[in-house]
Amino acid sequence: MKYIRARLGLKLFLSYLAVLLVGVSVIWVATQITTPRAYARHLAFMESQMGTGFMNGQGQGQGQGQGHGMVADFYENFQASFNEALLISVFAAAVIAVVVSWLLSRNIVSPVQAIMSASQRISEGHYDERVNSRGMDEIAQLAARFNQMASQLEQVETMRRQLIGDVTHELRTPLTSIKGYMEGLVDGVLPANAETFNQIHHEADRLSRLVDDLQELSRVEAHAYSLDVRSVSVSSLVQTTLKRLSPQATAKRITLRSNLPNDLSHVHADEDRITQVLVNLAANAVQYTPEDGEVLISASQHGNELYISVKDSGIGIPQEHLKNIFTRFYRVDKSRSRQSGGGSGIGLTIARHIVEAHGGRIWVESAGEGLGSTFTFSLKVS
Ligand SMILES: Nc1ncnc2c1ncn2[C@@H]1O[C@H](COP(=O)(O)OP(=O)(O)OP(=O)(O)O)[C@@H](O)[C@H]1O
Ligand SMILES: [Mg+2]
Repeated sequence: MKYIRARLGLKLFLSYLAVLLVGVSVIWVATQITTPRAYARHLAFMESQMGTGFMNGQGQGQGQGQGHGMVADFYENFQASFNEALLISVFAAAVIAVVVSWLLSRNIVSPVQAIMSASQRISEGHYDERVNSRGMDEIAQLAARFNQMASQLEQVETMRRQLIGDVTHELRTPLTSIKGYMEGLVDGVLPANAETFNQIHHEADRLSRLVDDLQELSRVEAHAYSLDVRSVSVSSLVQTTLKRLSPQATAKRITLRSNLPNDLSHVHADEDRITQVLVNLAANAVQYTPEDGEVLISASQHGNELYISVKDSGIGIPQEHLKNIFTRFYRVDKSRSRQSGGGSGIGLTIARHIVEAHGGRIWVESAGEGLGSTFTFSLKVS
């Protein structure tokens, strides 16, 4: 019994057999009950057609007893031949039904078995495993959903591996620097002066900024924060950003200014989060713009959306990098961003997550290298 319970194919096969058995029994019983009456009725009909007393032996001088005997004989022979024919047909039908039900059960069970073995392989870490799904029935749909789930798992696994690789790489660089400085100090190759200590401090600072950024990234990627959405004035957001970045801009003699229309609407946003987005974009603009350049923050209304743009006259972004620029850890020129203050390629990823959490979009335009860039994001007007 346990063996049967554990096998869907066998259960299906046995259920087909049960249906077959019931069908055959009903046919058998029904024919045994209905045949004598049907026989008598047909015989009576035949008799009335022939116009003779065939049933009670009045025709052609035959005696009554002889007539009755003949009818009984007739009936017995008829019953025997009918039963024989019934037995042969039931047997033939049963054999065919058994073969067909075996084929059918196998047909139903084999895709289920395929899904089972594929899930086993996936649980062992083979995320590229898929099942063939043909047809449109529920089992084919199950197989299609299973494949969908498998490819999502595969994607998550790839992202996880990539993230660990990226994070390891990002952490190793400043650590290697710090170790190098320390070894230099111990060996007496580097002088123990303020400059060396400053360098070490700078690397340690980079490391701690990176850890903060990673924490923030994991929070926004997991949506583990809540938005405090209110009606916010865009011009106050822009003023806060300008104030925060003016030291860096002044240090590089960059003109940092804004150009906002007077009748600008308020937007639906979490003030702190959107300030973070704007600061990230403006900080990039200042960072990737050479001295004496220009950075402009502007806003314009398009229907019920407000576009906020940060435009710079900086180094620009080559066409082929534009589509990847919001991917985490992506930097156009890794060596360059490291020299110019150690960006780790997280700022834009965080910005994109925050904007999308507000139901907005963020995009970049750049005419190419050396031709400046414009980052724009949209927010809903309140
Ligand atoms: N205004 C810009 N002009 C030119 N390149 C830019 C600009 N903004 C971003 N980039 C390019 O996009 C990359 C990703 O930017 P992102 O802000 O995500 O990271 P980052 O600035 O390198 O580091 P951080 O995480 O510290 O911000 C940068 O490394 C840079 O190559
Ligand atoms: Mg940045």
